[in-house]
Amino acid sequence: MCGIVGYTGQQQAAPILLDGLGRLEYRGYDSAGLAIRDGGALAQVVKSTGKLRSLIEKTDEGRTLPGTCGIGHTRWATHGEPSQTNAHPHVSGNCTGSGSGKVESEVVGVHNGIIENYMELKAKLTRHGYQFYSETDTEVVIKLVDYYYNKYKLGPVDAINRTLVRVRGSYALALMFRDYPGEIYAARKDAPLILGAGSDFSCLASDVPAILNYTRSVYYIGNLEIAKLLPGELHFFDLNGDEITLEPTKITWDAKAAEKNGYEHFMIKEIHEQPEAVRNTLGSLISGGKIDLSESGLTDEVLADIDFVRFTACGSAWHVGMTGQYVLEEMAAIETRVELASEYRYRRVLPRGHELLIVISQSGETADSLAALRKAKSMGVRTLAIVNVVGSTIAHEADHVLYTHAGPEIAVATTKAYSAQLIAVYALAVQLAYVQGKIDGQAYGNYLEELSALPDKITRILEEKERIQWFAAKFASAKDIFFVGRGLDYSISLEGSLKAKEISYVHSEAYAAGELKHGTISLIEDNTLVIGVLTQSAIFEKTVSNMAECKARGAYLMALTSYGNYSVEDSADFTVYIPKSDPCFMASLAVVPLQLFGYYSGVARGLDVDKPRNLAKSVTVE
Ligand code: M6R
Repeated sequence: MCGIVGYTGQQQAAPILLDGLGRLEYRGYDSAGLAIRDGGALAQVVKSTGKLRSLIEKTDEGRTLPGTCGIGHTRWATHGEPSQTNAHPHVSGNCTGSGSGKVESEVVGVHNGIIENYMELKAKLTRHGYQFYSETDTEVVIKLVDYYYNKYKLGPVDAINRTLVRVRGSYALALMFRDYPGEIYAARKDAPLILGAGSDFSCLASDVPAILNYTRSVYYIGNLEIAKLLPGELHFFDLNGDEITLEPTKITWDAKAAEKNGYEHFMIKEIHEQPEAVRNTLGSLISGGKIDLSESGLTDEVLADIDFVRFTACGSAWHVGMTGQYVLEEMAAIETRVELASEYRYRRVLPRGHELLIVISQSGETADSLAALRKAKSMGVRTLAIVNVVGSTIAHEADHVLYTHAGPEIAVATTKAYSAQLIAVYALAVQLAYVQGKIDGQAYGNYLEELSALPDKITRILEEKERIQWFAAKFASAKDIFFVGRGLDYSISLEGSLKAKEISYVHSEAYAAGELKHGTISLIEDNTLVIGVLTQSAIFEKTVSNMAECKARGAYLMALTSYGNYSVEDSADFTVYIPKSDPCFMASLAVVPLQLFGYYSGVARGLDVDKPRNLAKSVTVE
């Protein structure tokens, strides 16, 4: 979704803001813009559509925009087509043409999120004489701030507070006021926004990588809180306008972690970082030969009481929940359900007395997942967040948090965060099973041993990536791909299929293998690629039979199974072998060749694999 940056200090703002926007490119966008002030009253606005490069060229790398205070934005269109007029920054005054140039306006701002009641607010403002030049909800909110600012004349904090009370939806806002040169004001509700300061500057951004070269001390403002940025000073206010104190969080990861380090794309770098992400996450959950979740507040007493688990999440995180469902029921014999957060939030839910609701989210900001968490909390359900981004809203609001230690994930397609999420789910399942007496000490020890062997096994799979690269290139022009598997293998198929779709734009479907003959098999034609996932020995033969049915109708079969299952070659045209682990943990291994397949297919098709079209890394609107 949109990216926001802001800087006020002693240096030229535009190059810093362009650099920051570059580091937020992964979030997905279709246009970009800057507003810069050079001490005086007027801000200069420049916008452009398409890639950030065109804004960089248009401003001669920021040189045509002198000034030490400014805001910037990359827009992922929601209200109104991607165009220069709809691009941010937006202004409170009337604008002609595309809205670029020196602006007379009182208020200039950028916004990430959605203003749900913007039509109603627009009508109100129109009655008060405001005119609108764009189709965006952002222009409405900027003009609303301007309205209150001029009506009450109590300054920016008051005007923003009055606006926050009237606005429904989600937002991260950064605003500059004509009468307050050198100052930036920011506010948020349910959209990410972080702030930082050094001795002579302050800055803000939608995510940490944008400011990591300037500071490691990061402030997270809460919902409906306001920040005022001055060179070297940050002030925070609550909804009453009273100044409040916030403590900074130290970012410990290296700035290099958010760079490509010689890899062609972030995605392939992050695929290779999986052994480390898994090892670090295991290290945070296991100590002294025991799983220890007590830091999250999930003590053995709490775990002993749980008799129903519900996972809720979106996209790949939902696939982790799907795997978790199989693992928890198999290992801990606890009834488990998995639900898409976007469905859970709007349906009638019957909570159970001893339920644990687990929200899984890399970003910790996904709008539907956050809404699902809030719904569960409002019903008195105990909640656990499995989150990668420290300090994110979901982490902040859940009763318990298990952090995954994947480090910053920049590629839109998740890989290492997914793998780290699986680990958190496994650790929880093993501990639940043990605490509730479903497994004995021997089995507990065996599971821990299997878990600690996963990083090296993932490394071994990565060493054979060339075979997948070759295979992906061979099928790069495939029209359709079907991923099939049963049980836990079905959950792996879902993730493999999503990777293929989002990175290589090839239509693909994941099917529970037994379902094929209930309709889908009619789509199989000569040379249709069918990828069978066969990691579960108990149902191996069944899936092989389903694959054979496809082959009989002309399909080309790829099998993904563990070493030793060589009989699969009687049916499959191409087989990828992975090391064995406990059946419950096989998703951690089987997903790697499928991630590689998605990646190399996209590369073979010449696509922008790190930033696939239409997608955003963090989906902060529903
Ligand atoms: O940040 P989250 O984990 O909550 O994001 C959930 C999904 O948007 C995300 O997994 C998405 O499906 C990825 N593009 C998958 O690669």
